[in-house]
Amino acid sequence: MIEKKIFIKTFGCQMNEYDSNRIYDSVSKLGFIKTNNQSNADCYVLNTCHIRDKAKEKVYHEIGRVKKLYRDKKKPIMVIAGCVAQAENEEMVKREPYIDIVLGPQSYHKVNDLLKKHVVNQKQEETEFDTISKFGYFDQIKNNNSKISTFLTIQEGCDKFCHFCVVPYTRGPEYSRPFTKIITEAEQLIENGAKEITLLGQNVNAYSYLENGKEYRLSSLINYLNQYSELERLRYTTSHPRDMTEDLIDCYSSSKKLMPFVHLPIQSGSNKILELMNRKHTVDDYLNVYERLKKISKDIEFSSDFIIGYPGENQKDFEETFNLIKKIKFINSFSFIFSPRPGTVASKLEMIDKNIAKERLQLIQGKLFDNQIQINKLMENQIIDVLVENKIEKQNKYFGRNNYITPVIFDGSDNQIGKIIKVKIKTSNQNTLFGSATKNMKAA
Ligand code: SAM
Ligand code: SF4
Ligand code: F3S
Repeated sequence: MIEKKIFIKTFGCQMNEYDSNRIYDSVSKLGFIKTNNQSNADCYVLNTCHIRDKAKEKVYHEIGRVKKLYRDKKKPIMVIAGCVAQAENEEMVKREPYIDIVLGPQSYHKVNDLLKKHVVNQKQEETEFDTISKFGYFDQIKNNNSKISTFLTIQEGCDKFCHFCVVPYTRGPEYSRPFTKIITEAEQLIENGAKEITLLGQNVNAYSYLENGKEYRLSSLINYLNQYSELERLRYTTSHPRDMTEDLIDCYSSSKKLMPFVHLPIQSGSNKILELMNRKHTVDDYLNVYERLKKISKDIEFSSDFIIGYPGENQKDFEETFNLIKKIKFINSFSFIFSPRPGTVASKLEMIDKNIAKERLQLIQGKLFDNQIQINKLMENQIIDVLVENKIEKQNKYFGRNNYITPVIFDGSDNQIGKIIKVKIKTSNQNTLFGSATKNMKAA
């Protein structure tokens, strides 16, 4: 086997990050070794995202950059993977001959064959929705990721068709992986040193797998994974308010490993807009989940996603979103101006005035960021649990996250990596907490 270098650049959500690692697990069987040097690779993979803005243009811009980097060198095999690849398919190769392989998210199991065929210099495009074969293939390849905090995809695709969203078109219909395959992969990750696993899916809490008349749900996975003593923390993302079922809510009482942090996108605080978005839930449905979880523990905190300036949003709708943010002090959140996506229902609707949308976004973000600053300020002088992930060599400091996924940078030591330790927080800003490990290293 000849050793070749592969550089993988990943955009978009955690599922793309997971996919990039699995693509690497596959191509390493062909002798590819990962490189961090983007200008010295035999194969260059762009794993793309199509969720907002000028996603397609960004990809062509990136390819232009790669072309410059390799002007005086041998051209790398250029692979475009991910959701833009799925949405654009063979059009990409026609528009940009520098691309060799276009690979949609359901076709990653074909990556090795496509790379082998590339030697005979064919342009190739694979954008079939073939999720079952994909996971069937990857189930036979060990997950070699050895991160302390790691991702594990359990579900892919979406059947909800929110009117603004491109995911059902790029990731295809909802598919849940077999329960036992997920457990086997989790065991591999734990064996590799994982202390925190985040279960992933575009609609992770819609996970449902039937076997011998029994239904396995996200709660079944959480309850099962609880028994692994080496595993310290469990998370899941991204969930839909409609799928926050009783069994999942119960996990917050029964599981010590499930972190008290729920990323639950609401998109808007106006029922009118939620209906126009085809979200299939109301603000009250959301508040109901919020209250049920808060009843279990007031320490459970929320984060969310907001779309501002959706077609039809008036001042009243906007104020309802603003008031919701005042009511629920989200610990952090993502907020974006509505971006029309090709092929979606909302792309045909009349946009609201751009400047009004920008103003509203600023107001919303001002409030969200204020909340974050205040919440982080409250942490100052407190001693909190941090799972230590790595050393930041340049700063001679250590990096980890608290229960609420907030980054913590602190003075510590190498032997704390991979452990949950106590850190005394001294200062903070909007996104990060800063402090020092306390003498008593062990978590309560
Ligand atoms: N499945 C998740 C849910 O239902 O909330 C969301 C997954 S999507 C990958 C992540 C976020 O991107 C969404 O929650 C939404 O806020 C944002 N998003 C999706 N389409 C968008 C669009 N056309 N314009 C702006 N933001 C968008
Ligand atoms: Fe997109 Fe809606 Fe599906 Fe989430 S639930 S992935 S926002 S269509
Ligand atoms: Fe982007 Fe596809 Fe994820 S569009 S957000 S990479 S599912």
